[in-house]
Amino acid sequence: HNYIFIMAGGVGSRFWPKSRNAYPKQFIDILGIGRSLLQLTYDRFLKVCPAENIFIVTNSAYKELIQEQLPDLAQGNILCEPSRNNTAPCISYAAFKIAAKDPEACMVIAPSDHFILHEDVFVNDIRHSLETVARKDILLTLGISPTRPDTGYGYIRFEQKTEDRIHKVIQFTEKPVLEKAKEFLKSGDYVWNAGIFIWSAKTILQAFELLSPQLFDLFNQGKDVYNTGEEQAFINKNYPLSPNISIDYAIMEKAANVYTMPVNFGWSDLGTWASLYQTADKNIGINNVLAGGELQLEETEDCIIHLPKDKLAVIRGLKDFIVVDDKDVLLIYPKSSEQEIKKITERLKEQD
Ligand code: GDD
Ligand code: MG
Repeated sequence: HNYIFIMAGGVGSRFWPKSRNAYPKQFIDILGIGRSLLQLTYDRFLKVCPAENIFIVTNSAYKELIQEQLPDLAQGNILCEPSRNNTAPCISYAAFKIAAKDPEACMVIAPSDHFILHEDVFVNDIRHSLETVARKDILLTLGISPTRPDTGYGYIRFEQKTEDRIHKVIQFTEKPVLEKAKEFLKSGDYVWNAGIFIWSAKTILQAFELLSPQLFDLFNQGKDVYNTGEEQAFINKNYPLSPNISIDYAIMEKAANVYTMPVNFGWSDLGTWASLYQTADKNIGINNVLAGGELQLEETEDCIIHLPKDKLAVIRGLKDFIVVDDKDVLLIYPKSSEQEIKKITERLKEQD
């Protein structure tokens, strides 16, 4: 009864210009190790359950890309969304679909763009989580020890006492302002939401019914067509009517039965250039050059330099900058302002 849903419909705009609308970062071999983040995520879950139980939920624009990258995945295991409405509609669709097939289904909802260092620990934690949610009506999320006041994450305060590793959540705060994030970090009582959720289809559907009735009603209308030839037509017509909201705001901040399991498997959300730099630096042993190219550096420190293979870059006297040369775009940007890269893409309305 265990099923994995990998969400691969995001755009990854803080990774511009390497990540673009037409080719977001989950499809890129961003670590330079021969597999894209999506492929690495898929490989990891193959250690948890068989391929037929792994689904990719994505925008229909990426269907071919996914088939190319995961040729062994059955076509029916790619769920295609006709519009971008963030993760709550995506998860509601997935839960209704799997519940129609297997009312006892337990689900892992996972992002497609994270890096995980200790895969064996990860696999054990996922197995333990799945066993737990099969017995308990809880919404479980994995918790990461925070290392900086990052405003891009969900922050979770939890009850300390517990019988096993799973703690009741007191408060879930999605993407706090910097002041709050600093406060949370300092207090030491919080973990980051890893964005990996584990629950039974039954429990998450109850949560939608209670807390997001609009999404519940919308996808409930299709309950007789899921897993039939009419499913895609139903989705194409109804999915775009969903509100644009993430699961964190729609459910996790509001539900009373949220739990967290603190984990330690070497997690990194490769959400920004600096997070990639930290991961690459620590784990892969390359300094500040992430791909291709030839470099002549002088008095250059703590820069992130990303070049195409045939390029020579000569840089002198640069510190704490991001330099990305990708096709028609050259980006030179202070590392300290990297959260703003998302805004450039909005400003440029995506030059794809
Ligand atoms: N199918 C589908 N459809 N997938 C989507 C969509 C969509 O409309 N939007 C985003 N995704 C995918 C992304 O590709 C990514 O793999 C995952 O869903 C999470 O979306 P992000 O946009 O990356 O979310 P976030 O990083 O801002 O925040 C989430 O993750 C953090 C940890 O990395 C939240 O859950 C935070 O609370 C959490 O801390
Ligand atoms: Mg993310």
